[in-house]
Amino acid sequence: MSIVPTLITIIGARPQFIKAAAVSARLASAGIREDILHTGQHYDANMSGNFFSELGIPEPRWNLESGSGKHGAQTAKMLSGIEEILEAERPSAVLLYGDTTSTLAGALAAVKLGIPVAHIEAGLRRYDRTIPEEVNRRLTDHVSDLLFAPTKTAMENLRKEGLLEGAHLVGDVMLDLALDTRAGETYGLVPLRFGLASRGYVYATIHRQENTDVPEKARIIWESFCSLAEDGIPIVLPLHPRTRRKLAELGIQVDRRPGRFSVLDPVSYKESISLAGNARFVATDSGGVQRESGFLGVPCVIINYSTGWEEVLSGGGAVLLGKDFSRLKDLLKSAWKNPPTVSDVGKEFGGGKASSRIVEILHDYLETVIQV
Ligand code: UD1
Ligand code: UDP
Repeated sequence: MSIVPTLITIIGARPQFIKAAAVSARLASAGIREDILHTGQHYDANMSGNFFSELGIPEPRWNLESGSGKHGAQTAKMLSGIEEILEAERPSAVLLYGDTTSTLAGALAAVKLGIPVAHIEAGLRRYDRTIPEEVNRRLTDHVSDLLFAPTKTAMENLRKEGLLEGAHLVGDVMLDLALDTRAGETYGLVPLRFGLASRGYVYATIHRQENTDVPEKARIIWESFCSLAEDGIPIVLPLHPRTRRKLAELGIQVDRRPGRFSVLDPVSYKESISLAGNARFVATDSGGVQRESGFLGVPCVIINYSTGWEEVLSGGGAVLLGKDFSRLKDLLKSAWKNPPTVSDVGKEFGGGKASSRIVEILHDYLETVIQV
C-alpha cells in the first residue's frame, strides 16, 4: 500500500491566500493531499473569505480565528493553536508563504515538533530589523528545510546566510496567477465599472506599518494623493483596514476628498489586477502590487525607503521614493506626465512557471520524507 504524502498549508493574510491559489490547484494534481490551516489573522470577508471563493482555493479545514492584536500576543495565539493541530495530524511537511505573523508562527510550531518546513518566497531581505516582516522571514528561512527563492537576488541573500542547502530558485508564484488573470475576460473591463478610462488614472494602495504608523509619513502620503486629485488626476485607492484605522486616528477624514479621488473598500484580486494593469501608473507600498505592476508592464512609484524586490527596479519602470517623503508629491506628478517605460520583468521572476516547479520539487522531497 502506498502512503499519500500530506501537507498542511498555513496561511492567514490576504497576499497568502492569493499565493496559495497559484500552488494549491497543482498540489492536488500531483497527488499531494493538502489541508489548509487559516490562522484567522485577516478575517473581514473582503480581506479573507472572498478570495477563497473568487480563486477557488479549498476551504480551510481549520480556522484559528486569532484576529488582530499586538505582534507578540497575535503570534502566541497562533502558535499554540497551530501546535495542537500539527501534533495531532503529524503532516509530512508544512507549507508557508511570505513573511507575515502567520508565517512565523507556522515555522516555529513546526520546527519544534520536528516537522519539515517548506517556505515559499524565501530569501527576501531589506536588511532592516525594525520591519516586522524582516524578522518573520529571516527566522522562517533559518528553520526551513526547503527554501523556494523567487529571484536571483533572494537566492544570493540565502547564500550569504549559509542557507543554500534545500534552496531552489523557482520564480514568483504571484507572476503565475497574474499572467492567468491578465488572459481572463474581465481584465480590460474593470476600470470602466469604476468610471475610469484605461491609462487615465492612478491605482494606489498603502498599508505598510512603516508608513501607516509614522504620522508624518501617513499625512504626506494622504496629502500627496489629494494634491494629484486637485490637479484633476483621477486616483483610485482601495483602503486596507489598517490604513483606514490609522488615518482616522490622525483625524484625517477620508470622506472629504478633492476631485476624482475614489476611496474604496478592499477590492477582489481580479479587480486589483485589472485596476493595476490598466492604470497610467501604480503608487504603492505593497510588496505584491509593486511586482504586479512590473508583470503587467505598468510603471510604479514604490512608496517606501527600500524594497526587497530589486528586479522590479532593474526593469526600469519602477521608481523608489527613498527616505525623503517630501519628494512624493513631485514624484507622483512627474510619473503622471512622463510615465517611465517598463521592460518585461517576468523572466526575472520565473516566467510564470514557479508553482509547477515548486510542486515538482515538493513531490520529490515528500517521497523521500515518507520513506524514512
Ligand atoms: C499583514 C502583514 C503584512 C502584509 C499584510 C497584507 C504582518 C506582521 N504583517 O499586515 O506583511 O503585507 O498583512 O495585507 O503579518 N484588520 C481588519 N480586518 C482584517 C484584518 C486586519 O480590520 O480582516 C485591521 C485591524 O485593525 C488590524 C490591522 O488591520 O489591527 C492590521 O492587521 P494585521 O494582520 O496585524 O497586519 P497587516 O497590516 O494587515
Ligand atoms: N489586492 C487585492 N485587493 C486590494 C488590494 C490588493 O486583491 O484591494 C491584492 C494585490 O493585487 C496583490 C495582493 O493583494 O495580489 C497584495 O497583498 P497586500 O498588498 O495586502 O500585501 P503585500 O503584498 O504587501 O504583503
